[in-house]
Amino acid sequence: MKKNIAVLPGDGIGREIAKGAVAVLEAVGKRFGHEFTFEYANIGGAAIDESNTPLPEQTLSLCQQSDAVLLGAVGGPKWDSLPSDIRPERGLLAIRKELGLFANLRPVVGFQSLLHSSPLKPEIAEDVNLMIIRELTGGLYFGKPSERRGANQEVVVDTLQYTRAEIERIVEKGFEFASIRNNKLTSVDKANVLESSRMWREVVNEVAERYPQVEVEHMYVDAAAMKLISNPKEFDVIVTENLFGDILSDEASIITGSLGMLPSASLAEDGFGLYEPVHGSAPDIAGQNKANPMAMILSGALMLKYSFNLKEEAELIERAVQETLKAGYQTPDLKLTEGKVVGTDEMIDLIIKRVEEGATVSSEADVYM
Ligand code: IPM
Ligand code: MG
Repeated sequence: MKKNIAVLPGDGIGREIAKGAVAVLEAVGKRFGHEFTFEYANIGGAAIDESNTPLPEQTLSLCQQSDAVLLGAVGGPKWDSLPSDIRPERGLLAIRKELGLFANLRPVVGFQSLLHSSPLKPEIAEDVNLMIIRELTGGLYFGKPSERRGANQEVVVDTLQYTRAEIERIVEKGFEFASIRNNKLTSVDKANVLESSRMWREVVNEVAERYPQVEVEHMYVDAAAMKLISNPKEFDVIVTENLFGDILSDEASIITGSLGMLPSASLAEDGFGLYEPVHGSAPDIAGQNKANPMAMILSGALMLKYSFNLKEEAELIERAVQETLKAGYQTPDLKLTEGKVVGTDEMIDLIIKRVEEGATVSSEADVYM
């Protein structure tokens, strides 16, 4: 198979970890006889420095001509004081919108060997395998107006807007994934307060009629936040709007022990995908060879699975990560009491070595979907 991949490393640790994902994908390509080519472009702060805009035209067109996109992370203190329309985060929001990436999949898998790096009791964190499906191109992130008002600019407005069609397509994704997983869908909203959530609930109930095998549960976002760390095993697929999904996915990372373990896939209606870790650019540790590259590498695995339908190849990466952890290697963020702490580059090499050796299955339950 021949595929062109656009790589947007971004800022901070984004650059270090993107390099790792590319190297791992090259190793997979070699082993299975695929030809992956990588073309690079700037986004976020790096793009602002180069061309005064967080999402340059040529970056967008490179993505549009590619088969899939790998993105590192954006942002850093250097750009924090810029006006809101040219901040690095704008680039991220713009690329999601421009590419129509409305469905953000965030699988959360509790790796056995990381149980002790989670602040949750092992019996709560173990065997967790859930997926948060976050709406990514609507809601408060994009609603207009979003501004300060009044004579003294002392009134602020943000707008939470969704069309029925936008809700339908993300809810449909929720049901699709619940159907290929364990037939359980939790729809998270705030229907006791928000009109948008009341329409969301209506849509979920309508779509549910077409998926009689899927058990549907409605949950308020505050209750979901609590349940996610008190009894995460209750969840299979969670579908929710943009801001709720942003917040709940950071919270869910606690189950895995580190935000550095969470990959994500963002898909458009035609199946086009962008793959990025859930974490940010971590400017405090950038350039120090301390970043955990695993969320980025696992995002590469999701790319193989969802964009190229290369399931076996994707699972090899997932197993290589698991085997490396099982062998006792860890990055500093994992705070394990036993094992060996290694830097970003060494962790990447250890994972590549296992890809080259064809890491064997250790446990079915730990494999992502
Ligand atoms: C995420 C991030 C982004 C978001 C930020 C960086 C704009 O937190 O991908 O979860 O809020 O979507
Ligand atoms: Mg976030």
